Amino acid sequence: MQIRSFARRRALTQLGALACALAAPRASSDGAPADAQDRCGGATGERLLIPGEDGWFGRLAPRGSPITLAASSINTEATWATAFAAQHRGRRYRNPALAFESGERARIMVTNALNEPTIVHWHGVQVDTANDGAGMDLIAPSGRFAYDFAVRARAGLYWYHPHPHGLTAGQTYRGLFGLIAVDDAEERAVRAALDVTWGRTDIPLILQDRRPGPAYAPDAGDLHHGFLGSIATVNGGRDVRLEVGSRAHRFRILNASNARTYLLGFADATGRAIPFTLLGVDGGLLAAPIRCEECFLSSAERIDVLLDLSRAAVGDAIVLETRAFDPMHFDAPQTPGAAPSEHLHSHAHAPTETETKDATGDGCAPWPEGTPRRLLTLEVRERTAWRGRVPDRLSSLPAPDATGSSERAFRLGFAKGSWRINDRVFAMNETPIEVARDAKEIWLLRNYHTSMPHAMHLHGFQFRVLERETSPDALARLVVDDRGRLATDLGMKDTVLVWPGESVRIVVDFRHPFPGSQTWMFHCHNLEHEDGGMMLRMKVG
Ligand code: C2O
Ligand code: CU
Ligand code: CU
Repeated sequence: MQIRSFARRRALTQLGALACALAAPRASSDGAPADAQDRCGGATGERLLIPGEDGWFGRLAPRGSPITLAASSINTEATWATAFAAQHRGRRYRNPALAFESGERARIMVTNALNEPTIVHWHGVQVDTANDGAGMDLIAPSGRFAYDFAVRARAGLYWYHPHPHGLTAGQTYRGLFGLIAVDDAEERAVRAALDVTWGRTDIPLILQDRRPGPAYAPDAGDLHHGFLGSIATVNGGRDVRLEVGSRAHRFRILNASNARTYLLGFADATGRAIPFTLLGVDGGLLAAPIRCEECFLSSAERIDVLLDLSRAAVGDAIVLETRAFDPMHFDAPQTPGAAPSEHLHSHAHAPTETETKDATGDGCAPWPEGTPRRLLTLEVRERTAWRGRVPDRLSSLPAPDATGSSERAFRLGFAKGSWRINDRVFAMNETPIEVARDAKEIWLLRNYHTSMPHAMHLHGFQFRVLERETSPDALARLVVDDRGRLATDLGMKDTVLVWPGESVRIVVDFRHPFPGSQTWMFHCHNLEHEDGGMMLRMKVG
């Protein structure tokens, strides 16, 4: 931590008066003390890492050539202890952002230099069972696995991460994940209209909450409600800032946190919300842009947003923040101002040993879910013209069509020590969900009142959200139509957050091009819940 605080002090000196002004507590930040904001999520720190053409999260376009991702330990000052190392055409990468044209063939060798088994899953991309990396096949230490698949996905931001059952949370937390950026003609047209460039004004933001140090050491409470860190990181940096011109910027935001849900929005220095345009979600662009003030983003979800700073003045500081909300789970009583949720058990969440250590060892107070934090500060440094515009129509995305579908119900709840789907926990040799070939089904996802939010993810298929019923009051102001949907429900989704007491109907078109029947997974993407067995295997004919 020596090096950290030195770097921080240096950054403070360079920023001078501006940094001091920014570090002042904001009127709107209810909850987190100013001190905690300053040290663990404030605006005085490092520059945002913007992925470039190599290095961390650098853009790697294989263009038909085979590539190798080597799951390796790294001995540096980096945030993470492990990463996928890659080399391509003389460039070296860590966790490369794989850039593909929609439909392009991917040939990826994954090698395992860890001392435990792993496997890689291509989250959101439709691949057959053999390539899905869902944990049925594992790569032993020193082993390798050859993937060969077509990148069947709409243009959009996807990601890859490990999926060895029981080890997924730890391996992901320790750094084994990267982006997949899929491109097509529609996306290029939108990018041209928006006048944004990847790596400059079109910037991926990877959110992960962490505890000090690289280790993953969950206690029983963490395993129950999900691992929450005390430190907000964006692209691996804490307290990050980015100098920008007064033009529009596109941010593609991935929630790579193990368990934390964010309520994301932008605000100016006085705490006034700055609306943004939602362009896309998990499975790519929406049909049409929609203006938002804030969006929930649960584990594994993505949003694609445009923030227009044309009216900002030089010297302005705009923050990307997560706002206060009732997280509706067992540690709710810890959350200042949040209404206590109904409890299945009486065990309220006391600060864990690790959280207590955070408070002393790193200066970071615990960061309960639903309490606000600044994540990124955009410092407007110059006037720049923006010649773009937001097209009225972004992509050819038909309205969801559920005609001819039968309905299947799933209950999300807790019993006998485990989070469960339809009262079951995951078993490798069972396939409780069987779907007929070419079927289209409505899935009714019902979460018990006495539960917590679950980020339900389906492998193999992007789906559409049809409606939300009996949603918590906190969602009311985000609802955009008479079916109770949110702006983020309007596109193709692979992960959907289901709140306690809520019923969410999704429609899934199970057509796939693969020979014979295939199996995929349906699970909660709270990684502690997933590892704990809140996952079912599904067979599609
Ligand atoms: Cu992103 Cu089965 O996971
Ligand atoms: Cu997936
Ligand atoms: Cu869950």
